Amino acid sequence: MSIIIKNIKELVQVEENPVSFVSGKDMSKLETIKDAWLYIKDGFIADFGRMKDFKEDEWVEETHIVEFDATGCMVFPSFCDSHTHLVYPASREIEYIDKIKGLSYEEIAARGGGILNSAKKMQEISEDELYESAMKRLDEIMYMGTGAVEIKSGYGLTAETELKMLRVIKRLKENHPLTIKSTFLGAHSIPAEYRGRQEEYVDIVINEMLPQVAADDLADYVDVFCDKGFFTVEDTDRILNAAMKYGMRPKIHANELDYSGGIQVGVKYDALSVDHLEYTGKEEIECLKGSDTMPTVLPGAAFFLGMIYAPVRDMIDAGLPVALASDFNPGSSPSGNMQFIQSMGCICYKMLPEEAIHATTINSAYAMGISEELGSIAKGKKANIYITEEIPTYEYMPYYYGSNKVDQVIINGEIY
Ligand code: NIG
Ligand code: FE
Repeated sequence: MSIIIKNIKELVQVEENPVSFVSGKDMSKLETIKDAWLYIKDGFIADFGRMKDFKEDEWVEETHIVEFDATGCMVFPSFCDSHTHLVYPASREIEYIDKIKGLSYEEIAARGGGILNSAKKMQEISEDELYESAMKRLDEIMYMGTGAVEIKSGYGLTAETELKMLRVIKRLKENHPLTIKSTFLGAHSIPAEYRGRQEEYVDIVINEMLPQVAADDLADYVDVFCDKGFFTVEDTDRILNAAMKYGMRPKIHANELDYSGGIQVGVKYDALSVDHLEYTGKEEIECLKGSDTMPTVLPGAAFFLGMIYAPVRDMIDAGLPVALASDFNPGSSPSGNMQFIQSMGCICYKMLPEEAIHATTINSAYAMGISEELGSIAKGKKANIYITEEIPTYEYMPYYYGSNKVDQVIINGEIY
C-alpha cells in the first residue's frame, strides 16, 4: 500500500542527509518544509517535497494509494521513547499517596515498597495477563504519537521472573506494530533477602540470569540501577563487563539520587545511553563529551517525584546531545505520553521547542539504537509518523500541554 499526504502545513524534522543524533547548538536548528507532500510506499518514507513541485500525474499509475489532505495539519516523525518499564503487573497509586504525604522514594523503597512491591506481584501474575495489559499500554502510547519504544525487565529480580518479563517483551515485539527494543534490568533493586550482601545477588545476575537471557536471545541491551541505595559502581562494572561478553550494550540508570559514578562507569563501557542524570556536574559533563553515550533525561520521573531537574541547559550549552524519554512505569512515572514529556522538556528544563523535538525523536532513537531507521523524516526510513490536528505552529505542540494533538497515526506505512 502507498500513502500520499498532500497540503501538509509543515513537514517537521526533515533530513536530506541523515545523522545519527544532534548535539549542542545544532539541537536548536530544525529543518522543516512548509506546504509539503509526503509519499509513503511499502512501509517506508519514499519521497517528500514542496506542494509547488508536486506532480499529480506521477502517482496515477498507483492502484493501492490512499490520499490524505492535511490542510492546516502538520506531520512529524513519531516519538521514540527510549526508556520505559511498561511491562508491569499492577499500578501503585497507594505509594503515590505516601509520596503526597511526604515519604521519599528511598523511604518507600526501604519500607519494601517501590520496585520490590512490583516484583512481588510479578511472581504471581500470568504471562498472558502481563502481555495483555502491556499491549493496551502500547496501543495507548501509539495513539499519542509514539512509534518506537524500549521496554525493560527489572520487576522480576529472580531468574525465572526476569525471563518471564523478557519473554513477554519478545511477544510484544512479535505482535505489536511499534518498533520495540528490550533491555535486561536484573539489577533494578536488591531483593530484601540479599540486603547487606548484594554482591551475592550480583553474582546471580551475572552467573544465572545473563547466560539464560543471552542463550534465549531475549534482550538487546543491559541496564543497572547504579545509584545511592541501589547498585554500586563496582556492582555495575561487574555486570556490564559480563554483559559485554554477550555483546549486550548498556543503557543504564545513573545519577538520579546522587553523584553515583554511574555516568562514568556507563561511558567506560560505551553505554548507548545513561538515563535520569539529576546529579550531573562539570566532571560528568566532561566525561560525556566525546563519548558515544547519549545523555537521556526523564522529566516524568523528576516531575512526579518532585526531584531536582537535571542540568539540561548546561549539557546542551557544553555541546552535548540530550534525549528525553518517558520512563513509563507504575512507581515514578505512570505516563507514556511523549507529548507531555516534550512540554516538560521546555517548561521544566528550558529547552527550546526545536531542542525538545530533536530530544524526543532522533536523539531518543539513537539512545535505543534505531536512529538509522527512525527518528526523522528521511528517505528510506520506516514510515512511522503522525499527523496533527490543525495547529498554528510546531511550537504549539509543547506549548499546548496536556492534550492530545495527534489526529492520525501511521506506523510501518499502515494507518491506525
Ligand atoms: O526509572 N530509577 C529506577 N527505576 C525506575 C522506577 C521504577 C519503579 O519505581 O517501579 C525509574 O524511575
Ligand atoms: Fe527507569
